Amino acid sequence: MKILVATEKPFAKIAVDGIRKEIETAGFELALLEKYTAKKQLLDAVCDADAIIIRSDIIDAEVINAAKALKIIVRAGAGYDNVDLQAATAAGVCVMNTPGQNSNAVAELVFGLLVYAVRNFYNGTSGTELKGKRLGIHAYGNVGRNVARIAKGFGMEISAYDAYCPTEVIEKDGVKALKSVEELYAGNDIVSLHIPATAETKNSINKDLLGRMPKGAILVNTARKEVIDEAGMEQFMEERADFKYVTDIMPGNHAAMSEKFAGRYFSTPKKMGAQTAEANINAGIAAARQIVDFLVNGNEKFRVN
Ligand code: 3PG
Repeated sequence: MKILVATEKPFAKIAVDGIRKEIETAGFELALLEKYTAKKQLLDAVCDADAIIIRSDIIDAEVINAAKALKIIVRAGAGYDNVDLQAATAAGVCVMNTPGQNSNAVAELVFGLLVYAVRNFYNGTSGTELKGKRLGIHAYGNVGRNVARIAKGFGMEISAYDAYCPTEVIEKDGVKALKSVEELYAGNDIVSLHIPATAETKNSINKDLLGRMPKGAILVNTARKEVIDEAGMEQFMEERADFKYVTDIMPGNHAAMSEKFAGRYFSTPKKMGAQTAEANINAGIAAARQIVDFLVNGNEKFRVN
């Protein structure tokens, strides 16, 4: 059996070594396609793969149909909006993610971006502190929970809104559970986004919602660019010179945003949230183990389709 690791943004070498060990110990073969630049390379690489480990790599119907021997795709990470689940199901291919494995890395980056923002992008002027600021966590999943844990160390006032997570789960962490998304944006100095990109959430962070945020507010996005209404965000930032947006997912209108909002808009050049050796090891090895367990024992835990 051939297991392909197809990562346009590669894992740390130590993680690839760990994946190789898991795969070869199980008697399978590992194939590596890293830093590919054209879809054709991916289409060629998948043709004889029984399983694929990916990150944010786009696995659409064309890729799935080119992979004639494919049985399972594991997205080493949380969000699987990059995989065409319908096409996978139609082709009889199991899709899994590795929830929680890279969430600490993403949560730590939230604070990297926030300190940068409140210290005025290190421009030499006097900034402010996170201590005492009101932090609203938008969705209380694995990353949101880690954000809450770290925010306590900074001495922040923490609340969260999650349409699906029970109030008791949020409140047992000492975090105030809010009843509506409007309340979350209106009542916090900083909102940290942790919603997935779904039909329901796409473009949902719009001008109306942002307009509820108080003076001097900051939005930090380590989730997905698709959840932002980019035109609405641009218009909003034109009207609200006090507002800052820091993101780990470069928006489609990055050039315009950088030019118009220098000093209060920042995007990493490439999504860096999960790009740590630890997260790569955790998510990569979990993915390899899940594949072995599926192929050998038929274990479908973490299946998402
Ligand atoms: C995830 O969904 O797990 C994160 O967005 C990380 O994505 P990446 O593997 O492309 O860095």
